[in-house]
Amino acid sequence: MLEASGLTTKYGAIAALRNASVHVGAGEVIGLIGPNGAGKTTLLNTIAGLLAPVSGSVLLDGADVTGHPPERLLRSGLALVPEHRRIFTDLTVEENLKIGGVTVSSTDRAVLLDEMKEQFPVLAEKWTTAAGYLSGGEAQQLAIARALMSKPRLLMMDEPSLGLAPVLVDVVFGLIESLREQGRTLLVVEQNAERMLAVADRAYVLRSGAVVAEGTGAELRVRDDLFDTFVGGDS
Ligand SMILES: Nc1ncnc2c1ncn2[C@@H]1O[C@H](COP(=O)(O)OP(=O)(O)OP(=O)(O)O)[C@@H](O)[C@H]1O
Ligand SMILES: [Mg+2]
Repeated sequence: MLEASGLTTKYGAIAALRNASVHVGAGEVIGLIGPNGAGKTTLLNTIAGLLAPVSGSVLLDGADVTGHPPERLLRSGLALVPEHRRIFTDLTVEENLKIGGVTVSSTDRAVLLDEMKEQFPVLAEKWTTAAGYLSGGEAQQLAIARALMSKPRLLMMDEPSLGLAPVLVDVVFGLIESLREQGRTLLVVEQNAERMLAVADRAYVLRSGAVVAEGTGAELRVRDDLFDTFVGGDS
């Protein structure tokens, strides 16, 4: 499904991502963990076309999509729920979702809107409320629902539980679990390493811009040498 190989991305002279490779199979839930500044956001943004790598490639179902602009990638089936959500606070829940569905046909959009109403009761209740009035947990659900409106084949999320109260962190991980049960393909950046390893099929550990380990939760948990990477994973 996704084959990102040897990605190096720089901010000016500084390489924030160094020769990073990640692959995600159809129906897999893959975690991306590592300390602050490890390059997790840079990796997702590079895959999503928001940043151009200086080297490396991104293949989506075998097709080279390296350097394609974000909207084209969205049409190719790759959606990103960005760090800090970036929903439109002046627009209603429904309007935000409609924007998420701009790349699909109007028939599909109507069907997807109904699906979101059903899957996210919290949003259904606030359908005509401006998104700026949503709580943090509701806003995160809206950000995820908005990404689902594009009918993504691969959904990437950047720290979906960040800044949420524990009970809402549970809601987000419950949502990841149900997306997994729907057979969706996910690549999720999480500070909350323990929780992520529990729901993921596999995870990659990033440190200083490089992938330093890859494996199942069981394989990674016994790697004492990685443990400082997991600091902050218990919130
Ligand atoms: N726009 C930017 N300009 C310059 N340097 C940047 C920029 N964005 C990120 N960096 C640097 O690149 C490195 C990787 O940042 P990135 O945001 O990808 O890390 P991260 O793993 O997502 O961290 P966090 O857990 O804090 O979100 C860091 O050293 C960061 O300071
Ligand atoms: Mg980040």
